[in-house]
Amino acid sequence: MSASTTVLLERDEAIVTLTLNRPDKLNALSVELVTELGRLVGELGADPSVRCAIVTGAGDKAFAAGADIAAMASMTPQQAKHFADLGHGVGAALEALHFPVIAAVNGFALGGGCEIALACDFIYASDKAKLGQPEVNLGVIPGFGGTQRLARRVGDARARELCMTGDMVAADEALRIGLVNAVVPHAELLPRVREVAKKIASKGPLAIAAAKRVIARGADVPLPVANELEATAFAALFGSEDQREGMKAFVEKRAAKFSGR
Ligand code: COA
Repeated sequence: MSASTTVLLERDEAIVTLTLNRPDKLNALSVELVTELGRLVGELGADPSVRCAIVTGAGDKAFAAGADIAAMASMTPQQAKHFADLGHGVGAALEALHFPVIAAVNGFALGGGCEIALACDFIYASDKAKLGQPEVNLGVIPGFGGTQRLARRVGDARARELCMTGDMVAADEALRIGLVNAVVPHAELLPRVREVAKKIASKGPLAIAAAKRVIARGADVPLPVANELEATAFAALFGSEDQREGMKAFVEKRAAKFSGR
């Protein structure tokens, strides 16, 4: 996998950590960084040996404090559309991956930072984290999916309030409204998220991929159609070696060894 400086990639067996890396700018999302992130996510999507990924931010203060305001200040509507499409492409690519992605929000996750975290499967936050969609303070709205994914995650009314006031929420409030799954003492964030990633990586990868796909696709269709998607995916797994191994291992009272086949 080729080197990048704006996004660092670290691999620990089946787990990959992507670190947004512009700490002197609170990991603000430049065109270059978003392009790199999209490229790396694309490469990981073609690697069947990856079982879980973590996205976090470099330094002690931020996951990402938003899209790069200095770069956006002079954008034309066409350039802004291109930038929004780039961000939406990364969000869609994260959602399309065959493995889960956990956002480890280690500080500010604002604007595009919050939106990247929302495109991950779920979020763990440091007790120092602050999340929000402050774009209205700049005379614009979220452009990387915030108006849509935030509403789907925390409900329409809370999403409206966050997008319309521009207020940040602290980690405990983010937990209360369901924006993050857990709040962890700052220094323990990455170790805790790695534990969760390892647990996910130990399960049957075809089952994890199916769960991810069915939960995502099911959310956008009527319930009977969504339930049919689930039943079809459930049945398809019975053609896999992993299903036979998982159930045999249970009967034999041993840990399953999943192959992803
Ligand atoms: N785009 C570009 N640069 C950013 C940035 C962003 N979204 N967020 C922070 N930075 C830069 C600052 O300009 C500063 O750079 P400098 O040292 O060269 O002046 C550096 O990161 C540190 O930020 P600073 O504002 O000094 O830190 P702080 O602790 O005082 O404040 C924030 C932290 C997050 C409250 C503040 O940086 C902020 O409001 N950022 C913008 C948030 C935002 O509106 N995001 C949505 C964008 S659509």
